[in-house]
Order: sequence, then C-alpha cells, then structure tokens
Amino acid sequence: MTTTSFGEVPLADAMVVYEGVSKFFAVRSGSGGKHGAELMVALDRVSASVRKGELVTLLGPSGCGKTTLLRLTAGLIAADEGRITIEEKEVTGPRKDACMVFQNFGLLPWRTVMGNVEFPLEIDGLPIAERREQARHFLELVGLAAFAEHYPHELSGGMQQRVGIARALMRKPILIFMDEPFGALDAQTREQLQEDFLRIWSRTGATVVFVTHSIDEALFLSDRIFVFDTAPGRIRSIVESPVAPVRLAGDVRAHPEFGKYRAELRNMLRSKA
Ligand SMILES: Nc1ncnc2c1ncn2[C@@H]1O[C@H](COP(=O)(O)OP(=O)(O)OP(=O)(O)O)[C@@H](O)[C@H]1O
Ligand SMILES: [Mg+2]
Repeated sequence: MTTTSFGEVPLADAMVVYEGVSKFFAVRSGSGGKHGAELMVALDRVSASVRKGELVTLLGPSGCGKTTLLRLTAGLIAADEGRITIEEKEVTGPRKDACMVFQNFGLLPWRTVMGNVEFPLEIDGLPIAERREQARHFLELVGLAAFAEHYPHELSGGMQQRVGIARALMRKPILIFMDEPFGALDAQTREQLQEDFLRIWSRTGATVVFVTHSIDEALFLSDRIFVFDTAPGRIRSIVESPVAPVRLAGDVRAHPEFGKYRAELRNMLRSKA
C-alpha cells in the first residue's frame, strides 16, 4: 500500500494546507465537577495538504474529528492551535468560491428543484434569466432536467442529493466540502451517485474534501485518503488510492488492488496506531 506519513505537497501544488491544527471542545461532566470545564481534544496537531484539483477523503470512525476538520476548512469554526491556509491565505471565515454538500441534502422544502438550485445566484443578485439558464445546465448535468418544477418531497433521496450537488456547483466553486453526502442513501443509489459525482467533478477541476466512514467510498473516489485515528483525532496515515488513475475509465471496484487495499485499510482502522 502506498502511504506517506505527512501528506506534504510542494507549495505550488497546494490548495489547502493544514499546519499543526488542533481543536478542543468543552466536555460537560455529568457530576458537575469542581474542576471547571474540561477540554477534549477533537483534533490533535493535524498537518497535511490537499493539492489543487485533488479529491481527498477524510476516512475514520465516528467521533475521530472528520466533520470538525471539514468545518474548520470551510471557515465555519476556528482552530484553537495551528492554522489552515487556502491558496496561501489563512482561513478566517466562509469563502464564496467554496461550497458545502451535506448528508441530509439541506434543501429548502418550500422551493422547487429549480428554486433550490438557482438560490445561490439569487442571493448574489443575478438576473432571473441568467441564473435559470445556469441552473438548467447543472440540472442537466445531474440528470434532473425533467424535475425542475418538482418539490424536494416528491423526489427520492438520491435525486434530492443530485439537487444538492447541482446547487453546490452553481457558483462554480474551486473548493467543494462534502460531509458524508451519500451516507443516507441505499447501497445501489450510493454507488451510482459516486460514479456520477466523479464524472461531474472531473469536468470542474474543483478541489474536493470529502468526509466518509466507508472504506469502499474512500477508495473509489479518492486521489488520496487521509486516514484518521481516534481520541484524540489525528491523521495516522495518508494513502494513495491504487485505482485513482483508472477510476473514470470503468468499474474499478472489481480491481484486485481495490480488494487488497480495502483489507489493509480495514485492518488499519481496527488497530490503534
Ligand atoms: N460543537 C461541539 N461541541 C462539543 N463537542 C464537539 C462539538 N463538535 C464535535 N465535538 C466532539 O468532537 C469529536 C469529533 O467530532 P466530529 O463530529 O468531528 O466527528 P466525526 O469524525 O465527524 O464523527 P461522525 O463520523 O460520527 O460524524 C467528537 O467527540 C464530538 O463529540
Ligand atoms: Mg461527522
């Protein structure tokens, strides 16, 4: 298995750089305790970088800090130690050229599919004709052109997430943050969306940070996998997916290396570092 311990890439290639990033949260002690608020370490000195145009997955068990690292990268919360830079600028808040795709789709139930997809550009004040044209383009891309006038509750989970992806692409983001976006879907729908998303992503050139606890999903989608250790959360290993170079060419899940890496990653996640 090809692993690198730090995930450092030449600065010219780097989109996101994590330098000694730690995050602490206050623990609520059941006993009320006399010692004041205790802190738990959600992330412990994470250092790594994500290349421009790369798709990196954050893989690890529940509670290892994946969502926390994603929220830090998206500028939704601040690090307690260390720093995160995007294109050499320190992250201090959300960026317009980045977007987020959530597990629960995050659609507005009172708006149609079109109303949801055009929403970001409506906020930006774009004229209706322009934003509709772009929304139609992205709905086409995710295969939902015929459903523009439907409401989210009239769609399956997989279709709702396609709407979420179309909406995310509307501002032509250079960075896409995804937090278990396919976690709520059945196995077949999930695989289909993984394939469709790869195809769409490959045309955008966007850099993607994708959270998952599925080894197969990580292997299938990633250029590289940041494998997390739990309690405290840190990156224990960075793994290059063996099927990354051929993943757009056909079904790589049957590739012999895929099975071998799956077993190795499973062992890695089961054992302590
Ligand atoms: N706002 C918060 N306040 C207190 N503790 C938090 C907060 N957010 C996260 N934590 C704690 O930090 C740790 C990491 O949480 P995080 O949500 O990042 O994990 P995760 O890897 O995304 O897990 P999952 O796979 O279950 O989504 C957990 O122990 C969690 O309880
Ligand atoms: Mg999470």
